[in-house]
Amino acid sequence: MKVLIETYGCQMNTADSELIMGILQTSGFEAAHTLDEADVIILNTCAVREKAEARILGRLTNLVPFKRLKPGLMIGVVGCMAKHLGEKLIEERPYVDFVAGPDQYRHLPDVIRNKRRNKAEILTQFDRSEVYSGCSSKRPHGVTAWVSIQRGCNYVCTYCIVPHVRGVERNVPADEIIAEVKKLAKEGFSVITLLGQTVNSYVDGDITFAKLLQMVANIDGIEQVRFTSPHPLGFSDELIDVIASEPHVAKFVHLPLQSASNSQLDLMRRRYTFEEYQEIVRKLRQKCPEIAISTDIIVGFCGETEEDYQKTKQAIIDNRYAFAFLFAYSERSLSVAARTMKDDVPADVKQQRLAEVIDIQQKISKQIYESLIGQHLEVIVEGYSRRNPEQAVGNTRDFKTTIFEKGDSEPGDWVEVEIESATSQTLKGRLVRVLKKGRAPTVEEQIDVGISLGPTEG
Ligand code: SAH
Ligand code: SF4
Ligand code: F3S
Repeated sequence: MKVLIETYGCQMNTADSELIMGILQTSGFEAAHTLDEADVIILNTCAVREKAEARILGRLTNLVPFKRLKPGLMIGVVGCMAKHLGEKLIEERPYVDFVAGPDQYRHLPDVIRNKRRNKAEILTQFDRSEVYSGCSSKRPHGVTAWVSIQRGCNYVCTYCIVPHVRGVERNVPADEIIAEVKKLAKEGFSVITLLGQTVNSYVDGDITFAKLLQMVANIDGIEQVRFTSPHPLGFSDELIDVIASEPHVAKFVHLPLQSASNSQLDLMRRRYTFEEYQEIVRKLRQKCPEIAISTDIIVGFCGETEEDYQKTKQAIIDNRYAFAFLFAYSERSLSVAARTMKDDVPADVKQQRLAEVIDIQQKISKQIYESLIGQHLEVIVEGYSRRNPEQAVGNTRDFKTTIFEKGDSEPGDWVEVEIESATSQTLKGRLVRVLKKGRAPTVEEQIDVGISLGPTEG
């Protein structure tokens, strides 16, 4: 049987799709390369905002004709929206064959094999100990790999559905993470992104996140380590020191602020003040002047006044983020805010605030990126442009995506690029020279593993 997985949501879901494909292939399933070829289509879903769910529900509707054309075709919905909607999904969409939450992926081979006609399987229980030890992920071969080091979340930010669909925090044992990264390095992956909802709360015995980051950076063959998302609470000096001093750690931190108003942060139950957040930014920039910082912001959360909003807007201007993910508050059932607070900022005000901060951030990003024109930067080559395979795509040490004519460079190489132009999201330049050869994946290794990305909603 051939399986196709479409992924929605954050990087954690991307990593989970690779995990699911690994679990299925270990039990004899194969990857489908197109929808027509697939016997099973799995949507790995997101629930973080209403829009994310609406888009996936729309996609499900579009899949109905495929089912008519191919009797026996199975459609499964897994991940965060699957856990959120559960049985309701089946009631409203009887053509869905199975629903599985984030802790139930080990059961997917059995669920698919034993599926009886006209009876949907619904597996949405939490399993507080599941970290998928012993399961191996099926990754598209290349230079970059996602490694989940933590599942679930122990914070209860009041706007957020994630803890309610992903369950409590669980950390993958450090020895398993190290073994995994060593294996990846042997396979030619040299850029690793460590993933967790509050990745810096990771701990295993006396191994803190800062220690783990250092250990991963030390592994032979690993050139660059990134991580996402840290939480401002517990962003330790030890961590700042590792970021500043370890050459293999990216000079880049995604540090979600959400709001710069302390009363909003309090209502959001973020557990830090704006001043505490700024102190981390100050230390990061002091100890690591080349650091790039990005953020997440929510505008229009319950009770957000014009004054609250102005504070956030000013923080975006003052902090000069390299980029930012900006969202209008979307009420989510299950969340504390949905149960106890009033979603009282009018939709048009939310949209107007959102449009304004998007515009401001775009101008700042463009300034920052354009200021690099003329500079010679080190870039690690991660692959080729989808639109033009003659163009290589990589990232600078501070995580700025850079495109250039590939010349004699190959994926995995560190190269020197002279920046010639910039947009608010990418740098374009000219390859000056290859600085250090990497181990490029062979053509045979660059196989399509049957995982495709839906629109990102992270
Ligand atoms: N664990 C990460 C965030 C995961 S969700 C962290 O705490 O940083 C990614 C982002 O989506 C959040 O940072 C927040 O900015 C946004 N988000 C979460 N819930 C939301 C909601 N109900 N409405 C709008 N944006 C939301
Ligand atoms: Fe957890 Fe808060 Fe991040 Fe949601 S926003 S995943 S509750 S830390
Ligand atoms: Fe789940 Fe990530 Fe969306 S944890 S809710 S897929 S943002």
